Amino acid sequence: MSPADPTDDPGEGPVLVVDFGAQYAQLIARRVREAHVYSEIVPHTATAAELATRRPAGIILSGGPKSVNESPAPSIDPGVYELGVPVLGICYGAQLLARQLGGVVDRTGRGEYGRTPLTVTGSSPLFADWPETCEVWMSHGDAITGVPDGFVATATSPDAPVAALHDPDRAIFGVQFHPEVVHTEHGRELLERFLYDICHCPPSWTHTSIIEHQVAAVRAQVGASPVLCALSGGVDSAVAAALVHKAIGDQLTCVYVDTGLMRANESEQVEETFRRQFHIDLVHVKAADRFFEALAGVTDPEQKRKIIGELFIRIFEEVARDLVVEKGRIDDDDGAPDDEPAGYLVQGTLYPDVIESGSGTAATIKSHHNVGGLPEDLAFDLVEPLRLLFKDEVRAVGEELGLPHEIVWRQPFPGPGLAVRIVGEVTAERAGILRAADAIVVEEVRKAGLYRELWQSFAVLPAVRTVGVMGDGRTYAYPVVIRAVTSDDAMTADWARLPYDLLERLSSRIINEVEGVNRVALDITSKPPGTIEWE
Ligand code: XMP
Repeated sequence: MSPADPTDDPGEGPVLVVDFGAQYAQLIARRVREAHVYSEIVPHTATAAELATRRPAGIILSGGPKSVNESPAPSIDPGVYELGVPVLGICYGAQLLARQLGGVVDRTGRGEYGRTPLTVTGSSPLFADWPETCEVWMSHGDAITGVPDGFVATATSPDAPVAALHDPDRAIFGVQFHPEVVHTEHGRELLERFLYDICHCPPSWTHTSIIEHQVAAVRAQVGASPVLCALSGGVDSAVAAALVHKAIGDQLTCVYVDTGLMRANESEQVEETFRRQFHIDLVHVKAADRFFEALAGVTDPEQKRKIIGELFIRIFEEVARDLVVEKGRIDDDDGAPDDEPAGYLVQGTLYPDVIESGSGTAATIKSHHNVGGLPEDLAFDLVEPLRLLFKDEVRAVGEELGLPHEIVWRQPFPGPGLAVRIVGEVTAERAGILRAADAIVVEEVRKAGLYRELWQSFAVLPAVRTVGVMGDGRTYAYPVVIRAVTSDDAMTADWARLPYDLLERLSSRIINEVEGVNRVALDITSKPPGTIEWE
């Protein structure tokens, strides 16, 4: 069972953002939600009848990487224009609706890319808050040169004769520029006018309402059954656990497996937050020895991942079996206690994962964080309280639930933990060296006020040793590499230009404070061609 649709009330359907590719739709959907209106992304292959069943308050046709003059170019069922639902086409979406409704879209040979001056030339409810001229963000090669019957052109730019158009009778709007992009002045106001004045959406999608909806949905889903959650120390599992705990209290048990490959203080923080602050039933499995034993002599990165994933599952399974049997034996028809464990498992799946998997509802366990596929005989159903949320919404919900900033704003951390930052063999000693160096990196980056700005910043331990001098003696010890990147989504990343004084503090503190390290280097590789992690 998936969480209840937060838009069950008739007439309060979501704003549907039609996806024409390349993640344009995600940014638009996030902006709509920032205006406190619930939005969902739908594929452009959905028919008008399918869209109508969602009772949408509005439909936004997103931008896309293609040209409407290409063949094939993604299209939409023209029936959407007849649904009586307001439509806003953005960039590709504007050209598509112009073309489908009988206007002209030309390959003019003069595109516009980046900041572009726009002049409002006609009256439009979208431009209620706009001055006559302002800067907008453009990215188009084709241009609308003729509006369809019933439409009026309301704005122009140097190379887009029709930069905005609308049909007042059918409430169909198109803008050539990108109102969702921060470089478009007054872009937010334009979207708000569409949402509030044209679609008549109330600004009711707030963090409080998200929590209320999900609490109700979780209660309805799990009834009185026991629920398990694997905590990783990361944001998603922490927020999911806090939300589920708010819904069902003691029915939830969290399992935290300390693999010996966690960051400094991570285990203490999980204990402090979940056991002491939230009074959540927490099983803390201290399994470092088992992990180091299993990793002894292993140097191949994929082999390390596999060993860690499998051992994690085995340990989780041991704990889960005991717990579920103990807490929630379910009676069979015969009235005797059932030996098979049954219950629910909380998973921190986010909305972008749901969109990417192309499934609106299917509950698939992704190999994510430490839970890399659970044994089939543990018959869990999934509870996914974050599956409708973007990452920024998850963080806001986490804050509202009272989770500490350090958890809510934590940089991403790979499931296999420090192991993929220890090149070569992973031993307790080498993990200790890296953890100490990493803690200094995190502390100094935080002090410099850069922690939130950076996608990730951490230390790496290579498998070489180098010669140095310290005091009167020669040393032969490990170098530590500092890795810091900026990124939006981890698909691509740029190495961060850290200030020299920060680098100096890092170098001097790591060498002075971390035994076994005599040199500090900086990784200045972007992704591609590098990856963010070293393994
Ligand atoms: P790379 O190193 O491929 O990493 O540029 C991209 C993002 O994914 C994280 N990462 C992992 N996360 N299990 C995970 O849960 C893994 O095995 C894994 N490897 C990399 C990495 O930290 C970065 O955010």
